[in-house]
Amino acid sequence: QKISIDIQKTGGFISLDEVKKQAGNVLACQQKLHDKSGAGNDFLGWMELPEAITSEELKTIKATADRLSEQSDVVVVTGIGGSYLGARAVIDALSNSFDFLMADRKRPVVLYAGQNIGEDYSHELLELLKDKSFSVVVISKSGTTTEPAIAFRLLKELLEKKHGANEVKNRIVAITDESKGALRTLADREGYQTYVIPDDVGGRFSVLTPVGLLPIAVAGFDIEKLVEGARDMVKATAPDVSFEDNPAAVYAAARNLLYQSGKKTEILVNYHPKLHFLAEWWKQLYGESEGKENKGIFPAAVDFTTDLHSMGQWIQEGERTIFETVISVENSNHTVKVPSDKDDLDSLNYIAGKRVDEVNKMAELGTLVAHVDGGVPNIRISVPQLNEYFLGQLIFFFEKACGISGYVLGVNPFDQPGVEAYKKNMFALLGKPGFEKETEEIRKKL
Ligand code: PA5
Repeated sequence: QKISIDIQKTGGFISLDEVKKQAGNVLACQQKLHDKSGAGNDFLGWMELPEAITSEELKTIKATADRLSEQSDVVVVTGIGGSYLGARAVIDALSNSFDFLMADRKRPVVLYAGQNIGEDYSHELLELLKDKSFSVVVISKSGTTTEPAIAFRLLKELLEKKHGANEVKNRIVAITDESKGALRTLADREGYQTYVIPDDVGGRFSVLTPVGLLPIAVAGFDIEKLVEGARDMVKATAPDVSFEDNPAAVYAAARNLLYQSGKKTEILVNYHPKLHFLAEWWKQLYGESEGKENKGIFPAAVDFTTDLHSMGQWIQEGERTIFETVISVENSNHTVKVPSDKDDLDSLNYIAGKRVDEVNKMAELGTLVAHVDGGVPNIRISVPQLNEYFLGQLIFFFEKACGISGYVLGVNPFDQPGVEAYKKNMFALLGKPGFEKETEEIRKKL
């Protein structure tokens, strides 16, 4: 079984024949990834990750995760962007929704730090951790990112107060560059256990390295199955697979044609709130990869049916510049049926005995028809079930499609020059040494 894509409901907006006619160009773009002949070709290590990772490496990651898990009630994953979103996407998708309240838990609660600079967030986290046994997985490829660096300084100080400087090194694992950056210097000096983010894997493509795998294993999920799923998607999108059978190629073709036809925003839709952070990961993947040179589809996301009661109006009748990509989960992991009621005062007996998921599916189908009727093309990605294996497939599917799609658009999908602008201004405003000229310039603009 594998995830599949259905683009039939884009047919009223773009010609399905035209999608097929893109095969030559789209497969040529895919070939550039395989030949490493396109822009950003020094950042293609993610393509080999699923097949390159050995069971020995996975075992080592699992052993570290088990050690952290045994000694901690809480593990704080400290990172931002690509050094955070992949892990959170998978952990949230697989966790019990009320996980944080579970008393009989076997694994630590995973919390996050360094993904914002909120002072109240920092205070509340530190207050909570004061009385908890905790460890930290600090992740930064560059090792110099301000948000996680501040959070890590705070967490390290608290760990030192609680456990003394000697014990601290057993409670910190750093994931960073092999030789460069402040985090590498610190980790080597303090003797932390470390994992390396390979040079040729960009942050947003790093979920299948220890960046994602260690936190996911800490939360108790099966990283071998995740990698197995990704590996099967490597095969399903290999160069010898025909265009029609390659879901990444079809997705890249359809979304680019929709973009060219004026659909400038893609809304990733889910019907399972557990997928909220998968959409956040996807937004970063596509937004940072494609939004450059004044072009690129704007990646947005909604959680249905929740957001049908808010954004549903805009999607149904607002400006017609959007299309939807729905992640449709075929089977729920649990069964809950609508009970029958003898008085039927809420008039729900007509669905008594039906599974809640059946109602959800009818909401999905009803919305699909309503939105297509309202002028919103629809791409559907079917996922048989929410588990590690299919999430592994989904991750590699989106990564591969993103690489292809960026080349179809004509940009380098593997750089992110635009994210430096805010950092430069922030450093100038904070008076970072070396930014004196920028400080002077920015003050004139205020
Ligand atoms: O995808 C990217 O490259 C970025 O989102 C980075 O992951 C993010 O900025 C964090 O960078 P770093 O891991 O160097 O701290």
